[in-house]
Amino acid sequence: MQEIIQRLEDMRARARLGGGTTRIENQHKKGKLTARERIDLLLDPHSFEEWDMFVEHRSTEFGMAGQKVPGDGVVTGWGTISGRLVFVFSQDFTVFGGSLSEAHAEKICKIMDQAMKVGAPVIGLNDSGGARIQEGVASLGGYAEVFQRNVMASGVVPQISMIMGPCAGGAVYSPAMTDFIFMVKDSSYMFVTGPDVVKTVTHETVTHEELGGAITHTTKSGVADLAFENDVEALLQLRRFMDFLPSSNREQPPIRPTADEADRPELSLDSLIPASPNKPYDMKELIEKVVDEGDFFEIQPAYAGNIITGFARMQGSPVGIVANQPMVLAGCLDIESAKKAARFVRFCDCFNIPIVTFVDVPGFLPGTAQEYGGIIKHGAKLLFAFAEATVPKVTVITRKAYGGAYDVMSSKHLRGDVNYAWPTAEIAVMGPKGAVEIIFRGDLGDAEKIEARTEEYRQKFANPFVAGARGYLDDVIMPRNTRRRICRALAMLRDKKLENPWKKHDNIPL
Ligand code: HXC
Repeated sequence: MQEIIQRLEDMRARARLGGGTTRIENQHKKGKLTARERIDLLLDPHSFEEWDMFVEHRSTEFGMAGQKVPGDGVVTGWGTISGRLVFVFSQDFTVFGGSLSEAHAEKICKIMDQAMKVGAPVIGLNDSGGARIQEGVASLGGYAEVFQRNVMASGVVPQISMIMGPCAGGAVYSPAMTDFIFMVKDSSYMFVTGPDVVKTVTHETVTHEELGGAITHTTKSGVADLAFENDVEALLQLRRFMDFLPSSNREQPPIRPTADEADRPELSLDSLIPASPNKPYDMKELIEKVVDEGDFFEIQPAYAGNIITGFARMQGSPVGIVANQPMVLAGCLDIESAKKAARFVRFCDCFNIPIVTFVDVPGFLPGTAQEYGGIIKHGAKLLFAFAEATVPKVTVITRKAYGGAYDVMSSKHLRGDVNYAWPTAEIAVMGPKGAVEIIFRGDLGDAEKIEARTEEYRQKFANPFVAGARGYLDDVIMPRNTRRRICRALAMLRDKKLENPWKKHDNIPL
């Protein structure tokens, strides 16, 4: 018995050592933690239960029969974050560069299957050289098994990818199908083909970081949602992030008690909107003043800044916030912002997170770049997402809500449950100047007449009362009461039930 226990301990020690002390030191020298150190930081202390520590690859080619490391380059299992169950896999770069073998893939699939059965999120900590080259097609098969599970789990349990090292080639498509991708600056990168292939094919010279680093993907491509400074910050923020999410689509998001009173007035909001309709103001100020304790977890802050998306809490319950940002492109909707917000709205709807929308939108961004880029199809994504969402939807129009963008931004007509406007709201087909230039084109030479017509239009339409008279708004509220009114609306909507007609799935314009 003693001998067997000793053997077990030896095997555990060997598995824990991964690719050995030299490779661990190399990992640390790159500023990266090891797979196990990462799990320790991510999960509650002592909550991790490792599975498949003794799994080995079955490859015999290229001398692999003699090179087996228990665990085979990925640490898998389950534990808790703030007391709530999560499943996790953490690729171990010290073992064959974290490359994915058939056995490595089976380990990931096993925890994904279990997460689906019990309804818990799957978190992947990616740090891998891609397909295990020595295994060839067996490795490709392994990837595809993971991909299939990503798709089946989509909308059932939250799936989060934290890229903490290389992630290249077809391997990028597993994270791409998860709900959120976070990256670590300087040590992680994602691309379909690396700088060498790019150089050969397109003659472009580009570094790993420029081609697929955290900054590239959080500012240019929009592939990733957030970039963190280092492993420690990334994992601690991931813990904070998970607190906003329910464990599965069968559950409600977790409620955290707050000392912030639901009826807290915020007097400064009464003067947030500048006197001039063309002057911007910071929509983030409004969000932070309205949500519990000013705590806002923004998603994609550095991409498509004309729309703000992120999570916060109202009276302790998580909400998804979508808001036009007048500071960027005057808050216009464009291709990138429509895609960013549509995906966010759909995530919230999948996972029972009510959506609070703040509207100040002058319309869609005009121009050939937008039209040639397909704003028609991409803009429709956001319209589609709001329209199909059945979670509680509360909308507050602070200033402009013009044209099609008025309809898109969670309007009453798209089954907005509670739609409020501030007295400063302007809800119309277009702004006064544009409107007058079209309907009084004949008077364009007469500045005085045009000015009078513009003022007339402003008086008639640039206010919330025309929409209010039709019941498109439920009330016009004082800015200072915004928090109280949203909290009350959400409380009223807590047991909302709304189902879309049965269908295999919809056909959102992709
Ligand atoms: C097997 C691998 C490996 C791989 C790295 N290693 N990648 N072993 N299969 N894919 C091993 C190395 O042999 C080395 O082993 C150790 O991991 C560390 O690698 P280094 O090259 O020393 O590290 P570094 O200099 O940091 O470079 C990391 C790297 C590089 C950029 C990831 O290793 C690399 O380019 N690897 C190949 C990447 C690749 O082409 N993968 C296939 C992509 S196609 P020792 O024993 O020396 O420590 C793909 C298709 C997926 O993934 C398709 C899905 C549908």
